[in-house]
Amino acid sequence: MAAEQTLSVWREAIHGALRSAVRSRLTAMAPASGGALQRLWSAMEHGVLNGGKRARGLLVMASCQACGGNPQGTLAMRLACSLELIHAFSLVHDDLPCMDDDDLRRGQPTVHVAFDEPTALLVGDALQSLAFQLVAESQGVSAAALLRMVGCLAQATGANGMAGGQAIDIQMVGRQLDRAALEDMHRLKTGALIRAAAEIGAWAGPDGDDYSRWEKISAFAQDLGLAFQVVDDYLDATASTEALGKTAGKDRDADKPTFVSLLGLEGCRQYAQDLHGRALAHIADLGPQAQTLRDLAHQLTHRQH
Ligand code: IPE
Ligand code: IPE
Ligand code: MG
Ligand code: MG
Ligand code: MG
Repeated sequence: MAAEQTLSVWREAIHGALRSAVRSRLTAMAPASGGALQRLWSAMEHGVLNGGKRARGLLVMASCQACGGNPQGTLAMRLACSLELIHAFSLVHDDLPCMDDDDLRRGQPTVHVAFDEPTALLVGDALQSLAFQLVAESQGVSAAALLRMVGCLAQATGANGMAGGQAIDIQMVGRQLDRAALEDMHRLKTGALIRAAAEIGAWAGPDGDDYSRWEKISAFAQDLGLAFQVVDDYLDATASTEALGKTAGKDRDADKPTFVSLLGLEGCRQYAQDLHGRALAHIADLGPQAQTLRDLAHQLTHRQH
């Protein structure tokens, strides 16, 4: 199957699994709440089932395959959903008026616009918990491996990961960061979760216990994670709102430090290319099992939205 076709089949599979993860709980709900819980679950559904590239879920699956596992097996799918739930939570909070104040996400009104701000805040909380619950309730994996996965996901989501990066992001508005500081911010706010996706996916395959293999995949994902946010900065300045499904030009309007403001458009594009090359070099000797991982890296660094 051609790379693009494989990734699109996997994307659909993630979407279906997310739908059942959210909907099965939605329908199992007690009616005693007077509809309040129904509203929360509907808002969660709005934040999760509204499309997206599913990059982090796909990374879980491709890393699992690169370590000899079944990318569409129950464990890999559950972990892919978990990463996508954390990501969806991060987007719902990122769009809040107190953060980036965005009205549009994945071509639809953001959760706080479609519902309200308190609901959006709680949607983020609830999606994060659901993500950890999915990992914790996984079958077919040792308790030690599960703990490792939960710890990795917590680290990537918290103050030394995504939340920390977001804290830097909001405090640095109006300031120009130097290259090292900007890299640190991007590595945390976006790179940490992308790296965790690859690391957790690798542990889900039988060869994930081969530390040398796992480490190469982790190093690959670290460069890819940075490239991912560098491309996001580039697209914010060059793509249309229609293509992005989110308001274009927001970084400049909000006076955020980005790789476009630091390096200019051409410098930013070139930097993403360099990081892509570096990422691929880490997994050059992992053989055909890692081909989907390479294809995914190519697709994500050359994306148009
Ligand atoms: C957007 O992430 C926010 C960043 C961390 C750059 P994506 O570009 O993966 O958004 P979706 O999931 O495809 O909507
Ligand atoms: C978001 O970065 C990083 C997250 C942790 C969600 P951005 O603020 O650049 O993401 P977009 O451009 O709104 O998708
Ligand atoms: Mg932001
Ligand atoms: Mg934003
Ligand atoms: Mg952005």
